[in-house]
Amino acid sequence: MKLNIQRPRRNRQSAAIRGMVQETFIHPSQLIMPFFLLEGENQKVAIASMPGIFRYTIDEAIKEAKSCAAMGLVNFILFPVVEENHKDKHATYSYHPDCFYLKAISTFKKELPDCTVITDVAMDPYSSDGHDGLYENGKIHNDQTLHILGKMSVAQAKAGADIIGPSDMMDGRIGFIRNMLDENGFDQLAIMSYTAKYASCFYGPFRDALDSAPKEGNKLTYQMSPGNQREALIEAQLDEQEGADYLMVKPALAYLDVISLLKNNTNLPIVAYNVSGEYAMVKAAAEKGWLDEKASMNEMLTSIKRAGADIIITYFAKQFVETNFKG
Ligand code: PBG
Repeated sequence: MKLNIQRPRRNRQSAAIRGMVQETFIHPSQLIMPFFLLEGENQKVAIASMPGIFRYTIDEAIKEAKSCAAMGLVNFILFPVVEENHKDKHATYSYHPDCFYLKAISTFKKELPDCTVITDVAMDPYSSDGHDGLYENGKIHNDQTLHILGKMSVAQAKAGADIIGPSDMMDGRIGFIRNMLDENGFDQLAIMSYTAKYASCFYGPFRDALDSAPKEGNKLTYQMSPGNQREALIEAQLDEQEGADYLMVKPALAYLDVISLLKNNTNLPIVAYNVSGEYAMVKAAAEKGWLDEKASMNEMLTSIKRAGADIIITYFAKQFVETNFKG
């Protein structure tokens, strides 16, 4: 019997050959490590649903960030854990001069001047309602929210942020924030837009970490429906027209098709957010001995990259670099 002349297995014969034909690689420069920041000092608090990830006071976060930087992991995204007494309906603490998060941004830039500091722009960490927009009688006030997001962005810009990350999903926010930044002299500050952010159950552990879950209602009127793909293109077109510098898809693993769709419809860099629940699933299965942790992490991140992500935000960033690149 004569087999087909093509034999794909020829290119899989040794590690060296497999390495040569491998199409997708992840370099530490393409990873972003998230940090959850606490007010105060000298504290490092575990998060039950995210083994290996901590909430840090600024001093402790800087130590950890320096250890990341030493291994070539130099891009960080910062999230604040805000104390309940600082929260109010209009998230005013987010742009208050004494806000510890703004101080954290400055400290990161002072201690790690060559690293990238990406910030979070959304009301939910500071909102007594736990929503990303101004919430009243069951409704989100979109356009009133834009003014709050604008003030928050300018405050973060003044604190020294390198990239602003609006994660709120209000309509028109990229253009509004872009204008406000430009008017205040920050025309070089980039915007990483959470373009296609789905209303996902995979954010559960993050909301535990920040204690930021909605007190009432849900996020379905602003985050996207998991069943929709073409709607992501509408969001992408708007963000691009409004001046976004990066387009993000979030979550990542359950939305690989959306990553690939956006990749094929824009020339902007695509960011994928490998979210807290996606991290927790691997950690939990590995703890039970049901999955090989390193192999799962590597395969998951590779698939996100292969789908078209240029950049990945992942809680695995440090572990990935440590286990694949060090030594
Ligand atoms: C909220 C925000 C969320 C995440 C990042 N920013 C949660 C939400 O929308 O409720 C989730 C990140 C993760 O799960 O890792 N502005």
